[in-house]
Amino acid sequence: MKKKLIIPFTGILLILFFWKTTITQAIEQVRKEPISEIINSNDSVEKKAERILQKLTLEEKVGQMAQITLDVITKGENVYVSDEPITLDQKLLEEAIIKYKIGSVLNTANNKARSREKWNEVISQIQDLAMYEIGIPVLYGVDAMHGTTYTEGATFFPQQIGMAATWNPELVRKGAEITAYETRASSIPWNFSPVLDMGRNALWPRIWETYGEDVYLTTQMGEAAINGYEGINNDLSNPNKVAACIKHFLGYGAEKSGKDRTPAYLPEIELREHYLPSYKAAIDAGAHTIMINSGIINGTPVHADYKLLTELLRHELGFKGVVVTDWADIENLHQRDKVADTQKEAVKKAINAGIDMSMIPYNFKFTEYLIELVNEGEVSMTRIDEAVKRIIKLKLHLGLFEKPYPSIDEYPNFGSKAHEKAAYDAAVESITLLKNKENLLPLKMGTKILVTGPNAHSMRTLNGGWTYSWQGEKVEEFAQDYNTIYEAVQSKFGKENVTYAAGVEYNHYGQYHEEMNIDIDAVVEAAKSSDVILLCLGENSYTESVGNLHDLYISQNQRALAEAMAATGKPVVLILNEGRPRLISQFNVEMKAIVQIYLPGNYGGDALASILIGEHNPSGKLPYSYPMYPNALGNYDHKPSEAQEKMEGMYDYNSSLPFQFPFGFGLSYTTFEYSDLLLSKKEIDPNESVMVQVKVKNTGSVEGKEVVQLYVKDLYASITPDNKRLRKFEKINLKAGESKVVTFKLKAEELAFVGEDLKKILEKGDFKLMIADQSEVFRVTNMKRYQ
Ligand code: BGC
Repeated sequence: MKKKLIIPFTGILLILFFWKTTITQAIEQVRKEPISEIINSNDSVEKKAERILQKLTLEEKVGQMAQITLDVITKGENVYVSDEPITLDQKLLEEAIIKYKIGSVLNTANNKARSREKWNEVISQIQDLAMYEIGIPVLYGVDAMHGTTYTEGATFFPQQIGMAATWNPELVRKGAEITAYETRASSIPWNFSPVLDMGRNALWPRIWETYGEDVYLTTQMGEAAINGYEGINNDLSNPNKVAACIKHFLGYGAEKSGKDRTPAYLPEIELREHYLPSYKAAIDAGAHTIMINSGIINGTPVHADYKLLTELLRHELGFKGVVVTDWADIENLHQRDKVADTQKEAVKKAINAGIDMSMIPYNFKFTEYLIELVNEGEVSMTRIDEAVKRIIKLKLHLGLFEKPYPSIDEYPNFGSKAHEKAAYDAAVESITLLKNKENLLPLKMGTKILVTGPNAHSMRTLNGGWTYSWQGEKVEEFAQDYNTIYEAVQSKFGKENVTYAAGVEYNHYGQYHEEMNIDIDAVVEAAKSSDVILLCLGENSYTESVGNLHDLYISQNQRALAEAMAATGKPVVLILNEGRPRLISQFNVEMKAIVQIYLPGNYGGDALASILIGEHNPSGKLPYSYPMYPNALGNYDHKPSEAQEKMEGMYDYNSSLPFQFPFGFGLSYTTFEYSDLLLSKKEIDPNESVMVQVKVKNTGSVEGKEVVQLYVKDLYASITPDNKRLRKFEKINLKAGESKVVTFKLKAEELAFVGEDLKKILEKGDFKLMIADQSEVFRVTNMKRYQ
C-alpha cells in the first residue's frame, strides 16, 4: 500500500520539479530576453538603464556593485596565487558570476603582464558566462597608468610626473589616446587613470604618479588626459576609447608624515584651494568614473565620508558617474581605520556615504552583507538602485551589451611605430636640464664616456611602478628589446667610446630599497680613461606604501659614488632617474651638469642619449619644487611667512625656503630673452579679462622650445595670499634668432581664491603679473563672490 502510494507521489514530485524548472527557465527567459530587446530599442541610455534595473533581483543588483580581482577566479593554490599559464577556473568563475553575480573584475593574475591574446581569451570567457547568465556584461578595469601596464608589447610613456614636465598638454592627450587604444586592444574598457592628486609633498611615494605640485598645471594635464582617454565628446561607444577613472578623490597625497595612506590634516579652505580644482575640471570634462582616496582626512576615512562623497561630489560638483572604492577600502574601515566595529557595519557606512562599487577584491562577503543590510532596512533600495543604474549606464555607454569583447585583430596599431614615436617624443620633451656649467652639454661625438650608477643599465628604473606589474619589479623580463641609458649612449656615441661600471646596483628582482654589489673603486679606475662621467643615480621602482621613506637624501651608497666620481677631477654629468626629488645638496656643487629624467618609460634611454649628443634641445621644466634640505620642504605657492628673507640688521630666523631648483625651472642649450610685456588694461572689473602679451626671443644659436609661464601675485587679500600662482602657460618653439609674441587671455575670475566662508571670492586690489623677468601691476576694481 505504502509502496503504491509512493510511486504516484514520486511521479507528482517529478512533474512538479520539471514544471517548476520549466517555469523558472521560462521566467528566466522572460527576464533575459527583454534585456536584449531593451538594448535593441531606440530608448535613451537613461531609459534603457532604468528598464534593465527593473528586471534585476536584489542579488543581481548587489552583484553589479561588486568587483573582484582576477586571481579569485583563476586556477591556482588560493585567491592570491594563480597557476601559470593562467586559466580561469570554471567552478570559481561560476561561483562569481552565477552565485554572486559579480559585475566587475580588475587587475591581472600573479601581478604580471599578459599577451593580448591571453587577455582576449580570459575576458571573453568571463563575458560569455555573464551574458548568458545575467545578460549584463562584466566591466573589466585595470591601472593603465603610463601605457597599458599589464599587456606585453604595450607602449610605455613617461610616468605622469614626466608628462607634466613636458608642460605640453597635447603630448598628454596623445599619450592617453594611445593608451586607451592599447587598453581596448587588450579587451579592457576601463582605466583607473589619471591620478589627479596633488604632488605637494616630496616624501610621498606616489608623487611621480601625479602631475606635480601646481593645481593649474594638474588641471590642464588632467583635462588633456580625459580627452585622450574618452575623446572630446566622451563618447565611449567609440571602440578606441576607455572610461577614465580620476583618482583618488580627495586630498590623497597630503599625508602629514609623507608616508602612503597615513592621516592627512587638511583644512577645508586648503582642500578647496589646492586639491579640489583638478577634480572639478575633470568632472566638467566629462570623466565617467572616480576612485576614492584610501586615506583619512581630519580623522575620517574618506570612504566613510558622506560630506565628501555625496554632498561635495554629487550635490556640489554634480558628478553623475560611478564611484569605485580603492583596494579593499571598505574592509579597511573595520580592519585598519577602526570606524566600523564589524565588516558589515563598514559596508553600511561606505554605501551610505556614497560608494557605488566596492573593489572588494578577494572574497564575496561584501555582497552578502549588503543584501542583509537592504533587507534590514539599513541601506535603502533607492541607494542601491542609484548605484546600480550608474554602473549599467556606464556599461551601456561603453557598448558592452552589444559587444562585450572585441576580436583581437581589430587593433592593428597596437604597439605600432607611430605609438613608439609618440612615447619617445614625450620622453624627449620631459627631460629637464637643471645645470650645465660651462656648457658641458651637449657632448661632442668622440667623447670618451664612463656610464655609472645603479640607474645606468636598468629598464626597471626607467619605467618605475605600474609597468608590467604593480611594483615594476618584472620590467627586465618584458623590456629586453628597449635600451637602458648605457645601451642608448653606446649606440649614440659608439661602442668604442662608452664604458660601463655600475659602482652600486639595485637588486633588480628584489625589494625597492636593496642596493648591492658596491664596488666604487672599480668605477674610479674606469674613470681614468674617460673624458666625462655619466653618473646615473636615483631610485629603484616602487609605488604606494612599498615606497615609503625615512630619509629623503639620496642613498648613502649613491652619495659615496657621487663624491668618488667628483674626486676623480673628471667632469660629472648627474642623471637623476627618480620618482621623487631625492636630496642631492651634499654633493650638488661638485656636479658640472644635472639632468632630471624622472621615470621616462621604455624610450627614456634613447631620449636622453639624443639630448646628450645635442640632437634634441632639452625643454622640460620642473613640475615641483626640488627641495634642498629635509627640513625645508615646501611648494612655490607657499604663504609669505614660509619664506622670509633676512632683514638688514635683524637676526636670521632661517625661515627662507631654499629650493635646490625652483618649480617651473629648466635650462636649454639656447637662451631666451623676454621683453615688451603689455597688458590691455591696468584696471579690470571682476567680469572682465585682460589680454597679456610678451615677446620671447631665442638669443642663442640653436632651435629650442620654451615654456612661457605667467604667474600672478595677489598683493593683499583677506586670506593671506599665496606667494604667487601659475595662471597660464604655453610651450613655444623658436628657431635660433627667432622671436614670437605670446598672448594670454586672463579672466579676472581666474584670480579668485577660496575665502573665509569657503566660497570663491575675488577681492578688489592690486595684482602683480610676472612672466620670466617681466612684471606689471594691475588692479581689480571691484569685489565679486562666486557660488
Ligand atoms: C591603488 C589604486 C589602484 C588600485 C587597483 C590601489 O592599491 O591605490 O591607485 O587603482 O590599487 O589596482
